[in-house]
Amino acid sequence: MRTDESLHTAEAVRDAERWTPHNYHPLPVVIAEAKGAWVTDVDGRRYLDCLAGYSALNFGHRHPQLIAAAHAQLDRLTLTSRAFGHDMFADFCRELAELCGKDLVLPMNTGAEAVETGIKVARKWGYQVKGVPADQASIVVAEGNFHGRTTTIVGFSTDPDARDDFGPYAPGFRIVPYGDLAAIEAAIDDTTVAVLIEPIQGEQGVVVPPAGYLAGVRRVCTARNVLLLADEIQSGLGRTGETFACDHEGVVPDLYLLGKALGGGIVPVSAVVGDAAVLGVLRPGQHGSTFGGNPLACAVGTEVVRLLATGEFQRRSAELGARLHAGLRDLVGHGVLAVRGRGLWAGVDIDPALLTGRQACERLAERGVLVKDTHGSTIRLAPPLVISAAELDHAVAQLGAVLQES
Ligand SMILES: Cc1ncc(COP(=O)(O)O)c(C=O)c1O
Repeated sequence: MRTDESLHTAEAVRDAERWTPHNYHPLPVVIAEAKGAWVTDVDGRRYLDCLAGYSALNFGHRHPQLIAAAHAQLDRLTLTSRAFGHDMFADFCRELAELCGKDLVLPMNTGAEAVETGIKVARKWGYQVKGVPADQASIVVAEGNFHGRTTTIVGFSTDPDARDDFGPYAPGFRIVPYGDLAAIEAAIDDTTVAVLIEPIQGEQGVVVPPAGYLAGVRRVCTARNVLLLADEIQSGLGRTGETFACDHEGVVPDLYLLGKALGGGIVPVSAVVGDAAVLGVLRPGQHGSTFGGNPLACAVGTEVVRLLATGEFQRRSAELGARLHAGLRDLVGHGVLAVRGRGLWAGVDIDPALLTGRQACERLAERGVLVKDTHGSTIRLAPPLVISAAELDHAVAQLGAVLQES
């Protein structure tokens, strides 16, 4: 039995390091409770959460509507497996399909599973519909991608940390520079079944491609009979000020790959959403998941879709995002080299002569603001879409103060 006295950050960090492999290097913040945009650690310190679980917490911590849906479902039915039907499944699939303007929804659990599902569907579509010779299917992906951690996915990562020593790697992927439409066109041939792309590369540092790129990729895919798979796992569901990041260029992919915020910060829920002409290639026994589309996931996921259907969160993200970016731009020349992003999502390049990204995150945490570094001196801000203007101003002011004292 632990005493309250022992529930302190240093001990909790030590215990965690003792009992788990070090595949993460978390900030020394051990969270015990959370509500909305705020978290409280085991020592009672409060922090403004400006990472939001890499967008898994778009609606903030414990959004009342989502928690109520989860509670109600927990009291009734939690898991059936897909061997049987359940009474929450159809509504979830229908409402998510309608949000996406597509025919069908295939629910999975994690983002990586959604990506794997998209790859499998694209290959099967390639063989059965496009007529690609057996086992020849190729998929075009972008440098700097992050699509998850499975063995197939890390095989086409260009990040040595993610990829090295996990081979042999699955063949069938062609890597081209991100943002380079001509390179995609050149990489496509008769074996190509899909282009798999993040509309904004989050893990790479919130990298926004040049204007017209996504629309160009859509055009090329249509012209060459190649599926466009948009990994909107981090960029989708309100994060960028639209329902999907693809919306900014009026682009509709063949498959949306969704995750993170779809689970409302409560359960892992992912999905592949597309039309029957594509997703319809799957027959019984060819793909599945014990937990995919379980009743609890569907109950929460349906409420997530209903929150998004109001448009309120997309609006908040657009309006507050403009405020965030204006505030961050004011720091350029004062310790910030560059700011990128869209909506409530920003990648900030800190002057490496001042601080590493990690140091910036540590100093911000000391000032009660949580963000995450990536690739050297870049930090990422993705606050929950329920954050207030005053809270957002506070976060930017704290970053300014950190830079000023460095
Ligand atoms: C764009 C993108 N795709 C896929 C994933 C993988 O999701 P998960 O960690 O749920 O497997 C992530 C996770 O960060 C992501 O950002």
